[in-house]
Amino acid sequence: MKILVTGGTGYIGSHTVVELSHAGYDVLIADNYSNSKPEALNRTRQLCPGSVEFEYCDLRDKYATDSLFKKGDIDAVIHFAGLKAVGESVTIPLKYYENNLFSSINLLNSMAKFGVGKMVFSSSATVYGNPHALPIVEDFPVQTTNPYGATKLIIENIMKDVQAADKSFSFSLLRYFNPIGAHPSGLIGEDPNGIPNNLFPYVAKVAGGKLPHVNVYGNDYSTEDGTGVRDYIHVVDLAKGHLFALDQLFEESGIFTYNLGTGRGYSVLEVISAFEKACGHEIPYKIAPRRGGDIDACYADTSLAFEKLGWKAELDIEDMCRDGWNFQVLNPNGYPDA
Ligand code: NAD
Ligand code: UD1
Repeated sequence: MKILVTGGTGYIGSHTVVELSHAGYDVLIADNYSNSKPEALNRTRQLCPGSVEFEYCDLRDKYATDSLFKKGDIDAVIHFAGLKAVGESVTIPLKYYENNLFSSINLLNSMAKFGVGKMVFSSSATVYGNPHALPIVEDFPVQTTNPYGATKLIIENIMKDVQAADKSFSFSLLRYFNPIGAHPSGLIGEDPNGIPNNLFPYVAKVAGGKLPHVNVYGNDYSTEDGTGVRDYIHVVDLAKGHLFALDQLFEESGIFTYNLGTGRGYSVLEVISAFEKACGHEIPYKIAPRRGGDIDACYADTSLAFEKLGWKAELDIEDMCRDGWNFQVLNPNGYPDA
């Protein structure tokens, strides 16, 4: 069976391609390298026992998107492609609406045209906004606080409408919490452009001596140590979750929504301390003002994914830090350009 993986040279996509290949799937990756590098494809292929095709494709181009399906051999789609920088989405909202919405609409149109009905979509815990209670359950109210989050919610709603109108579609909407870490081989991992926005890659760069200290954004939140709490999940566990979601789509029709997290929250200071254990030295940090828009705490109720898919995260914060540090040591400057 062949799976079309959009955004398959990106961080989560590349790890998922490896898991798909080990499970016996053939893979066609479609990506425009807007936030990834060809080296990610080379390395992903090294980790894959099976065939991994690649098509350079900007999904905003509907003719290019159609052409992915022309051979008629795609059985299902996993749709990772999208822009994901929250801060940039606030300053350049149209870039986000254009890229994320046009891509997803083109993809759904092509799927309809070529009779491919199954798709797993990368949504985000961001759709819960500031949750009224914890842990977060899938039926909590959704709200968005930035254009990036709005694109995720709009795409979820588009998929719901499309599936309601045409029952030959079956979709899985996966709401990821905070993916971190890297493949244990150290060949693939997260390779952000420039200075990282997110905590874990920032801590990894400080640990590797590439940045002087971590700025801890606020220590006056209503959490045990005052710093923000998040549900960090190992990217390999997250990648595996997609295979469970696909299995369900091959067995059952409908539209399904799942939280993919560990169900356990860690504070910023706890993450720094776990990373210190992994790298074996102190990681300097300074308490800085809160970052606008951040919430106190966010972690998942993961029981639905376990009940319906039989999936649960198996790796812990030590595994995440060990593998993240290994990637940093082996790739101090990320993937090479050419
Ligand atoms: P990433 O940026 O590493 O990967 C996304 C890939 O999509 C990149 O390779 C990029 O080149 C490609 N892409 C973007 N626009 C495209 C287009 N128009 N046509 C073709 N390819 C395009 O991001 P990631 O961390 O791997 O995230 C994957 C998905 O998961 C994204 O949709 C993201 O919004 C979502 N998500 C990520 C996180 C996270 O913290 N990493 C959390 C929740 C949800
Ligand atoms: C990010 C995304 C969000 C997405 C979520 C899950 C941003 C702004 N938001 O949020 O849309 O749904 O991942 O994938 O990118 N922190 C520091 N110092 C830093 C960086 C972060 O103290 O240099 C703190 C933050 O205040 C927060 C925690 O670390 O408490 C995690 O931050 P981050 O890694 O950016 O993830 P989220 O804010 O959860």
